[in-house]
Amino acid sequence: MKVINLKLKENSYNIYLGNNTVDKIPSYLHHSNIGNFCIIITNRKVFCLHKDKIKKITQNIPHKIIEVTDGERCKSKEWVFKIINELIKVDDIEKKVFIICVGGGTIGDLGGFVASIYKRGIPYIQVPTTLLGCVDASIGGKTAINLKEAKNIVGTFYQPKSVFVDLRFLDTLPFRELKQGFAEVIKYAVIKDRALFNFLEANYQRVKRLENKFISSVIEKCIRIKAQIVERDEKEKRGIRTILNFGHTLGHALEASLGYQKKLTHGEAVALGMVCASFISFSLGLCSKKEKERIEKLIELYSLPTKLSFSPQRVLRSLSLDKKFIGGIRIVLLERIGKTKVCKDVSLDLIKKSLRIIKKLG
Ligand SMILES: NC(=O)c1ccc[n+]([C@@H]2O[C@H](COP(=O)([O-])OP(=O)(O)OC[C@H]3O[C@@H](n4cnc5c(N)ncnc54)[C@H](O)[C@@H]3O)[C@@H](O)[C@H]2O)c1
Ligand SMILES: [Zn+2]
Repeated sequence: MKVINLKLKENSYNIYLGNNTVDKIPSYLHHSNIGNFCIIITNRKVFCLHKDKIKKITQNIPHKIIEVTDGERCKSKEWVFKIINELIKVDDIEKKVFIICVGGGTIGDLGGFVASIYKRGIPYIQVPTTLLGCVDASIGGKTAINLKEAKNIVGTFYQPKSVFVDLRFLDTLPFRELKQGFAEVIKYAVIKDRALFNFLEANYQRVKRLENKFISSVIEKCIRIKAQIVERDEKEKRGIRTILNFGHTLGHALEASLGYQKKLTHGEAVALGMVCASFISFSLGLCSKKEKERIEKLIELYSLPTKLSFSPQRVLRSLSLDKKFIGGIRIVLLERIGKTKVCKDVSLDLIKKSLRIIKKLG
């Protein structure tokens, strides 16, 4: 088992990574003074697929399991208050309640949010079960729910007490969900780690097949990158976390204009956004043609799209609702693989050109 320590001024914590790391949770709970009553937040799908694992987590501790709606719809104010009502029911003077989130990024975001606001904060643990959860959502303490007006519009910064990344959860993950994680993995390599990029290129078949040594090493590198960025800019005040948005500015606009989850997943949108950002970087003379082409090729190797049928007009409208085009738009670009540059004034014309690059003809 690997232990990665995320160091913060206050509330540093460990991220445990390996096979069957959740088996270590009972002893962790016993030795920490995190609490004596556990609320597990999960959903039916994850619970049915991993009942044995989840039961092991809670074998020695009084607990209650709450199954929330699957997917993005659990990140709602209705679920926040349903969970708070359950917390109130079990909470009393003798009990010190804490939360364990067992699921994808949606469950981590919801559970973390509730933990941050109930009694002004109770402890929680993240147990991510999707690749995206393992490399991104469970690390860094950003929590959020959605309102119908916007995604992640209500949220907090609230760090977990620890994160248990158990690779065995990924065995049951459908390939479409795995790819969402691969898009973020490629993002980390492109923004920060040339060696990881080379590794992903050279070993793509073994990584995609989730061969233990390979996927474990990839996840570890991504966690370390995210942890380092969070350590330097915990609350997104210093602009350092901005580079994590590589591929996301245009990605979000594509996602919004095509309707969340319907035609395009977040990972697919980010993949296309990365193609656009690489093209813009090359057009501005920041990175070479070869680097841009390597990025496109890697995206394809991981079965993510580099082209799409869509209406550029609608994407531009979404983009202008999201960001203001005053003089130009702020985008994370590349000098080369492993080195980013935030550009404040990318012209609308260049953005339009980049959208033409990803547009499928016919
Ligand atoms: N807090 C952050 O820093 C951060 C960062 C990135 C993304 N996010 C959030 O994460 C969410 C996306 O996370 P996600 O992609 O994990 O989505 P998700 O939580 O909806 O999970 C995707 C699907 O996989 C299923 N699933 C989960 N684990 C499984 C397993 N082991 N086997 C089979 N199926 C499994 C889920 O039930 C769901 O249907 C978004 O809401 C996004 O806003 C947060
Ligand atoms: Zn993302």
